[in-house]
Amino acid sequence: MKNKKQKAAGKSRQTTPASQVHRELLPEQSTALLQELHLLTRDGQLNADSRRKLKQINHLANLLTPDLERLFADDRDPLILDAGAGNGYLGFVLYELWCQPTGRGTVLNLEVRPDLVARARERAELLGYERMVYAQQAVADLVPSADLDRPPVWQGRSVDAVVALHACDTATDDAIELGIRAGAPVIAVVPCCQAEVARLLAGTAVHAPAGALWRHPIHRREFGANLTNVIRAHLLEAFGYQVTVTELTGWEHSLKNELILARKVQRRNGLALKQLQQLLAGLPYLPMGLLQHLLGSPETRSADDPSPEPESAADA
Ligand SMILES: C[S@@+](CC[C@H](N)C(=O)[O-])C[C@H]1O[C@@H](n2cnc3c(N)ncnc32)[C@H](O)[C@@H]1O
Repeated sequence: MKNKKQKAAGKSRQTTPASQVHRELLPEQSTALLQELHLLTRDGQLNADSRRKLKQINHLANLLTPDLERLFADDRDPLILDAGAGNGYLGFVLYELWCQPTGRGTVLNLEVRPDLVARARERAELLGYERMVYAQQAVADLVPSADLDRPPVWQGRSVDAVVALHACDTATDDAIELGIRAGAPVIAVVPCCQAEVARLLAGTAVHAPAGALWRHPIHRREFGANLTNVIRAHLLEAFGYQVTVTELTGWEHSLKNELILARKVQRRNGLALKQLQQLLAGLPYLPMGLLQHLLGSPETRSADDPSPEPESAADA
């Protein structure tokens, strides 16, 4: 007899006929765009892989609704940045739902692969999405300065939201760093596979009892990925974000399913920083790029002299 998970997996492999596709759509979402993105087949069906992708994108777009309502309020013209945008599915959907009806807002997609950039630009032109912009560059390239007080800008504009759906390995960290440095009101990342911390742990001596957590390569990979996300969430909190970590969709739709959603609520949070420092002190030294860039070397981040400094006692 099939268990619940097997049933769900079987169901998620089915093609959705054109007559049922509307059930998968958000209000105001068109099948025409999904067809142009090749998420729907020519005869309007949704195959299993596209359905999984659409579920992730739509769920994320839905979760961001309250943030986008704020960003688009009062005739504002927000800049939404998609880091590691790939084909730009998420950006195109956000454009259709928010930028097109309001006539405001820009979706800036950062993508390193020239073929994907060229194709997405063609699509944007075909659709008349003038403010769906692709820059062929690495996410980190938009963070030119190590100075925390010099926020990254694009064409003189500040960044209002950073999204990164399955940005590879440390590209997710670059997206987080970019968002933090920009002071973006909202940062939403769904990390991809993560190898940096597992690599760093592999080079450390395994001391019992904690070392048992990463002695075997498969455990090291899983533990490394979990630890990375714990550090990412803590770091966002230290920089004044309120953070929720949840599943994006059911696990039958994607194994890369952890959503870290961060909303800026204060300048800094000294307590969160202290907790992160305590966590790191119990681990082997992890010179993770994200930590180095935002907190500096271990010598410059003792618990008594935290960097970044909380703005006020209330912030802590
Ligand atoms: C797994 S795909 C996800 C694409 C898209 N976000 C989605 O969910 O469909 C990751 C994309 O990130 C791009 N990428 C990887 N590292 C990057 C970096 N440092 N800066 C910009 N793009 C990057 C890759 O070329 C690839 O297209």
